[in-house]
Amino acid sequence: MLFNNKTVINSFIMFLAGSAITANAQQEATAPEDSDVIRLTTETFPDFIKENSLVLAEFFAPWCGHCKNLAPEYVSAASELKKYDIPLAQIDCTVESDLCMEHGIKGYPSLKIFRGVDLPPSDYEGARNKDSIINYMKKQALPSVQVVEDEQDLKDLISEATEVVIVDTGVENLNETFHKAANLYRDYFTFLQQSPSNNTEKGVLSLYHPGSNNSDPIVFTGKNTTLDHIVEWISIESKPYFGEVDGSTFESYMDSGIPLAYFFYTTPEERESYSELFTTLGKEYRGKINFAALDASKYGRHATNLNMKEQFPLFVIHDINTNYKYGLEQLSDEEFANLKKEESRCYCS
Ligand SMILES: *[C@@H]1O[C@H](CO)[C@@H](O)[C@H](O)[C@H]1NC(C)=O
Ligand SMILES: *[C@@H]1O[C@H](CO)[C@@H](O)[C@H](O)[C@H]1NC(C)=O
Ligand SMILES: *[C@@H]1O[C@H](CO)[C@@H](O)[C@H](O)[C@H]1NC(C)=O
Ligand SMILES: *[C@@H]1O[C@H](CO)[C@@H](O)[C@H](O)[C@H]1NC(C)=O
Repeated sequence: MLFNNKTVINSFIMFLAGSAITANAQQEATAPEDSDVIRLTTETFPDFIKENSLVLAEFFAPWCGHCKNLAPEYVSAASELKKYDIPLAQIDCTVESDLCMEHGIKGYPSLKIFRGVDLPPSDYEGARNKDSIINYMKKQALPSVQVVEDEQDLKDLISEATEVVIVDTGVENLNETFHKAANLYRDYFTFLQQSPSNNTEKGVLSLYHPGSNNSDPIVFTGKNTTLDHIVEWISIESKPYFGEVDGSTFESYMDSGIPLAYFFYTTPEERESYSELFTTLGKEYRGKINFAALDASKYGRHATNLNMKEQFPLFVIHDINTNYKYGLEQLSDEEFANLKKEESRCYCS
């Protein structure tokens, strides 16, 4: 009876494994009192985040095996990073459950980077060993805005960039917000600033897509320069007019809050032949509809999520807010099969 019960056996094995690890390595997930890791509680957390501009926080549970493995690495990284004034903190989620819930912690350990109270935390995306933690965090501490005095240097940086570049040439009262936005997007875009004192003309905020070579910048024309508005502008304008939906971009399209028009293509040539049309539409509907291509040979099944058949090419608009889907009319299965037959006949003759 006992041996038929998988749960009992599993928990017994886990108990053995758990005690073996603890006994052999004497390794605890909780950092020792005398280490440089700061233990935070629901009470101490807010003030600590307020007082330290950059903090790496580990949300953990004492029983979790990965947390035990991380512990010695985390402790050594904390000692080293202390020299750079970058504190490493730990929050025990079995005790501070409210704080962990507030931060949506779903697995252990969760490593998050905090930059004061105004910005949402970001996930630590490096490897979980001492050297990676040290390097990653030292990089996070570098200025997110590069101040460039010389006009030619600025031009060179823009034309050489392989990612979106956002430039502030001294817009009045924008400095603080610009730095916050730069911190928020530091892993994705380049932020350049010309020191306002050097610029006699009225400052502008502009955004350059890679390959634009200093021409055709998108200029911010809004009146309201609060962080919300700047972030929204960047999130809209940083997208290509006709982009690509894949694993790395899907979330940002879903988060954009505006409908997404998909073009499912089967070959690069097919994508290219529609590129001009969709780029034009993407410009025209900027901020209202995003246009993006999707490689049907990889992600064709996604068509069914949009209530469409896997008949390509395919054009469909998904209104993310209402979850309505609008597709160009498709053929019946029979008609589509006939069409494919026709096509193959054409190739044969
Ligand atoms: C910016 O100001 C500094 C000091 O006033 C000056 O040396 C430099 O040439 C200026 N740069 C430009 C591009 O005007
Ligand atoms: C802009 O803000 C940053 C960060 O807050 C600060 O370090 C810098 O001195 C400011 N620059 C100017 C010109 O005020
Ligand atoms: C960028 O533009 C300049 C002048 O407009 C031109 O000389 C240069 O070749 C261009 N560079 C690229 C990579 O297109
Ligand atoms: C700017 O927008 C914020 C909301 O994002 C609003 O609270 C504020 O009043 C606006 N400021 C101006 C000057 O319109």
